[in-house]
Amino acid sequence: MKTFLYGASGHAKVIAEILEENNIQIGGLFDDNPEIKNLLEYKCFGKYDEKKLKNNKLIISVGDNNIRKNIAEKNSLINFDTVIDKSANVSKRALVKKGTVIMKGVSINSETKIGYHCIINTNSSIDHDCNIGDFVHISPNSALAGNVFVGEGTHIGTGVNVIPNLIIGKWCVIGAGAVIINNIPDFSVVVGNPGKIIKENYI
Ligand SMILES: CC(C)(COP(=O)(O)OP(=O)(O)OC[C@H]1O[C@@H](n2cnc3c(N)ncnc32)[C@H](O)[C@@H]1OP(=O)(O)O)[C@@H](O)C(=O)NCCC(=O)NCCS
Repeated sequence: MKTFLYGASGHAKVIAEILEENNIQIGGLFDDNPEIKNLLEYKCFGKYDEKKLKNNKLIISVGDNNIRKNIAEKNSLINFDTVIDKSANVSKRALVKKGTVIMKGVSINSETKIGYHCIINTNSSIDHDCNIGDFVHISPNSALAGNVFVGEGTHIGTGVNVIPNLIIGKWCVIGAGAVIINNIPDFSVVVGNPGKIIKENYI
């Protein structure tokens, strides 16, 4: 059994190295851009091709949450892989759904749930009893305290801090370095300390 990647991006390089360290064979990549022939040492086969994937596993290695969702929904019958770096500390009582990637140095604490096709990026920390929706991206060095809910498709930027017991809505963007101390409505773009809504996120 091999794992293929869909999306020949910088993000794919990070996932490929985690797969290598976990001794999982990489079958190659797909990308809608036919100009991309290789990524690292791996062949890029152009557009996604079911026949090439056969019964192997797939990870959608696209950073954009909405594009990742569209690809996942078009190909819902595929056997998606879940990738967890060896250095990540994931509680035995946490739940991590398929298609999600958990990068180096991540901590996920007790009874936290992580949805489908999320990116839990390098050195981020998600404390106990959090609920992270599908297609969410928690960027490097962000910290979510306990019992935080994050809605589908939301992007938490780098170095964000969220205090306990908050609800961050769906398809929000939380700007790099923001400190979130209040609930955030769906589709908000928020920046600063304390985090303030600056506009709506049109997806
Ligand atoms: C919040 C963010 C999405 C806004 O991007 P944008 O829609 O292109 O908005 P702009 O750059 O036009 O900025 C709008 C205003 O917000 C301010 N702003 C933008 N990002 C900010 C941030 N992170 N913190 C504080 N203020 C910020 C800008 O200075 C600007 O202020 P002004 O209107 O007074 O000039 C973006 O700046 C950001 O922080 N993205 C997170 C990126 C990230 O962490 N990626 C991780 C990849 S792994």
